[in-house]
Amino acid sequence: MAINKPRGTYDILPEEARRWEKLEQVIRQICKLYNYDELRTPIFEHSEVFHRENEASDMVTKETYDFLDRANRKLTLRPEGTASIVRSYIENKLYADETVKKLFYMGPIFRYENPQKGRQRQFHQFGIEAIGSNSYLLDIEVISLGVTVIKALGLNGIKVYINTIGDEESRTNYRRILVDYFKQFEDELCADCKKRLETNPLRILDCKVDKDKDFFKNAPKINDYLNDVSKQHFNNVILGLQALNIDYEIDERLVRGLDYYSNTVFEIKVDSTYLGNQNTICGGGRYNNLVSDLGGPRKESVGLAFGLERLLLVLEAEGKKIVPDKTIHLYLIGLGDKARLKIQSIMQTLRFAGLVCDADYNDRGLKGQFKLADKNKARFTAILGDDELSQNQINVKDNKLDTQVTINIDDLYRYIIHTMQNNQSCNGNCKSCK
Ligand code: HAM
Repeated sequence: MAINKPRGTYDILPEEARRWEKLEQVIRQICKLYNYDELRTPIFEHSEVFHRENEASDMVTKETYDFLDRANRKLTLRPEGTASIVRSYIENKLYADETVKKLFYMGPIFRYENPQKGRQRQFHQFGIEAIGSNSYLLDIEVISLGVTVIKALGLNGIKVYINTIGDEESRTNYRRILVDYFKQFEDELCADCKKRLETNPLRILDCKVDKDKDFFKNAPKINDYLNDVSKQHFNNVILGLQALNIDYEIDERLVRGLDYYSNTVFEIKVDSTYLGNQNTICGGGRYNNLVSDLGGPRKESVGLAFGLERLLLVLEAEGKKIVPDKTIHLYLIGLGDKARLKIQSIMQTLRFAGLVCDADYNDRGLKGQFKLADKNKARFTAILGDDELSQNQINVKDNKLDTQVTINIDDLYRYIIHTMQNNQSCNGNCKSCK
């Protein structure tokens, strides 16, 4: 019996892989423009990196892939990138020179979730982490980079939803108020929220089960309990978004699904109905305590992560083609063993010079090889028989201009390049070439 892929995973087939390559290329280019450097961490870590005392999010308590290795070490497939990056930042003492470290990463992430469109168990994130400054300017830069990625891909109709959950002092104050409030309705809270009353009451605000209940809508809002420093930080971030013409909306209920956040939290959503509830393509915020929680010095930080599958799904739904159809420069047809062998050496030379070439490896006849040239969308098809070979000649068909010439094999490269440049059949001797 054939073996299928595990639930919630999928294969990225060659045609799709080309879209991934392009997406990654655009992202890398933008990271370069913002001066963010890549950091690659392992896809599994010691479990403590994610299972921390003050992290009670669903993602960490219910969705991680935890396992023991053969030496009984507790390991976890990374359910997000931030904690891994912070672990590496501390372990490699990237804080030593006291500058802000601007890092990016891309790769697979694992969460044991209920799979549906835009939600897998293995998916990919691109994320950035700017570690080592509490400046609101860094919040603005991080959000700006996220928006730039989206714009560079040609997507419109996106919006940044933003909120603040305040600094430590504001949150402690607000948490108390929130617990007092929700305690009155404890019987009506879902099982998870009952637990959250103890572990992280702020997360109750993010509950999808209780969100439509009346008492929920009247819950106190963080904005009424912010201290001046937190208020000022948030106002400055908002002024920055305005200065950069970034389309945003303040969402007072936004608290995000992870417990390490402080102050600014945000999500970027697309208008598209295509992804349904999975229309959040990016999430992020400040995490001023995570570096010290993981044993490092106090380094205030801010970052974001995109779900790459979601980005690609939206692009597809919006009809945005990010890669042109695949074509090759030359398909070579060989008639006879000698010709087929010669083709291998011709291709070696042409590939070395930068032309994409291919040939048949199934001993197909002339018709079959022409079909493959077609399938490969070859711009040129070259036919080599024993007769041509004996005179060092080759027959070349330009499939775009619909012309055919017989030329010296040694002129093949020049012919292809000049014909493509001039858009007319040319072996390098035409007027415009001279
Ligand atoms: P997150 O919101 O958990 O944040 O994930 C970021 C993005 O990953 C989401 O907005 C979504 O696009 C995508 N995503 C999440 N779960 C899935 C899934 N099961 N299938 C497909 N895509 C998914 C974080 O992970 C934080 N580490 C972001 C961050 C970086 N905060 C600060 N720095």
